[in-house]
Amino acid sequence: MCGIFAYIGNKNDAANIAFEGLKILEYRGYDSWGIAVKKGKNLAVDKHVGKIGGASVNLPKSNLAIGHTRWATHGGVTVANSHPHLDCRKEIAVVHNGIVENFEQLKEELIKKGHKFVSETDTEVIPHLIEENLKGSSGFATSVRKSFNKLKGLNAIVIAYAPSSEIIAVKNGSPLVVGLGKDEFYLASDISSFIEKTKKVIFLKDYEMVILGKDIELISVPSGKQLEVVPETVTWKFELSSMGKFPHFMIKEIYEQPLVIRNIAENYEDEINALSKLIKKARGTYFIGAGTAFHAGLTGTYLFSKIAETHVNTAVASEFNYLEHFLNKESLVIALSQSGETIDVIEPLNRAKVRGSKIVAITNVLGSSIYRMADFKILLNAGPEKAVASTKAYIAKLSVLLMLVFAMVEKTADAKKLLLLAADEIDRILEKKNSAQIKQVAKFLSIASNIYVIGRGVSYPSALEAALKIKEVSYVPTEGLAGGELKHGTIALISKGTPVIVFAPNDDSFESIISNAIEIKSRGGIIIGIADKNQPVFDYFLQVKDIKEASYIAQIVAIQLLAYYMAVDLNLDPDKPRNLAKSVTVK
Ligand code: AGP
Repeated sequence: MCGIFAYIGNKNDAANIAFEGLKILEYRGYDSWGIAVKKGKNLAVDKHVGKIGGASVNLPKSNLAIGHTRWATHGGVTVANSHPHLDCRKEIAVVHNGIVENFEQLKEELIKKGHKFVSETDTEVIPHLIEENLKGSSGFATSVRKSFNKLKGLNAIVIAYAPSSEIIAVKNGSPLVVGLGKDEFYLASDISSFIEKTKKVIFLKDYEMVILGKDIELISVPSGKQLEVVPETVTWKFELSSMGKFPHFMIKEIYEQPLVIRNIAENYEDEINALSKLIKKARGTYFIGAGTAFHAGLTGTYLFSKIAETHVNTAVASEFNYLEHFLNKESLVIALSQSGETIDVIEPLNRAKVRGSKIVAITNVLGSSIYRMADFKILLNAGPEKAVASTKAYIAKLSVLLMLVFAMVEKTADAKKLLLLAADEIDRILEKKNSAQIKQVAKFLSIASNIYVIGRGVSYPSALEAALKIKEVSYVPTEGLAGGELKHGTIALISKGTPVIVFAPNDDSFESIISNAIEIKSRGGIIIGIADKNQPVFDYFLQVKDIKEASYIAQIVAIQLLAYYMAVDLNLDPDKPRNLAKSVTVK
């Protein structure tokens, strides 16, 4: 998380340039923000708590600025804890993405040497470390290198040192990309924040350090040797997204889903066939993803078993490091990630690469870290997803997975038909009279103290995803579980009036899940059934028509809408829920 943006060059409104860049990066963290500019031999700093979106910046003219939009890890959301952080002499400013895992030990050592700390952050050790190293005869770059070598964890840092008129950046883990303009340089967490200014870029590799001043220098951190600067020109077009007629991005993105599905049905056959061949060739295929992307992977496991009669494992990406010991050159690891920047996914992919496994990326962001590191890639083309709660990228992943399992058994034409039916059914669910019914149920659920969601088979991951979506945007505690698991413990929490959402599609799970619903009802639970036909056990009924193997795609849309309306009902911002960020780049 956290967005970094820096500028150095021939323009003297660096603060505004950084401010505009940070606004584009706000999706990476939005609890506070700050910018530092060089002012003569000193630095001027402006820091704020809150979202950058509607704010303004108040800094002097300068041709050098570094800025940051924060997602707090260490230390609460306060002005003091927001970045940039300074050294004792206020000459060195640092913005940081990551976690300095050994900061307590470093801080203790620095305090003993007389350094004064003003924040609770791990980041603040960095400017003081550099200050300490500058005390010797080391220059700015050598001091940064020495300091970076002392940091444990995955970190990207950008430093401005007023006396030198230079910006230095160094990283391992989190992304940083340099943009090379005419007599100017940009540096950011994400290329989209400066793509309008230059398309000539360098993606910084781990343990590379870049020095930006009048010119650009690239240094290997381990050896200290100079590296050749070889910029690449990106030809990608980045779509900027606006809300149009919708009040929030989340609802806009929910309504875009039929289009996303139709695009996949009509244009993905070749690449999906190529991926199915890789899976057939591999000895062991593993899906990994985090949050919503993990739920997509788990859906894939069920689909592969049922339709392709093939076993594909799915793991929570952050757990995959502990399950990797069987990976080898013949293994295939398929990463699912909307942003393509999730560190919990990148880390196990790097480790799988070391073991010689092939990497596949199914992602929505062209040029993202996961996209670039993959041997084979499928771009979801769902368009920019701005709301933190993932909707259309999830539906896109589910659609790709459906195409993929049918490709495994050479029946892609069937998958296309099913996807088109799913798109039509979603259009129907989104019609005013149907969404109005969902709104009613949302009103009832938004005052609940806790909600449960159950499903079986391919609807089990839907239950997990439904619970996540409701939690993310409405903050109502919600638990998703397999229908059969209820009686193994959680049923103890059901009492008079407890709402339980039940996915009951017309498939092999139908009879058992209805039995579970009856068990809940006998204990006073209120049943919200999501099914093709109304059932006597349902207190509320949300219809999702039977579209055979694609029903699981349409049924989650009803819940996305439900979660959205719950947030609106509770007066919450569904696009930027508290404590979350769109791109999760820390462990
Ligand atoms: C989804 O609504 C969440 N915001 C979150 O679970 C997300 O899916 C997860 O962080 C993974 O992100 P990615 O798809 O960008 O890797």
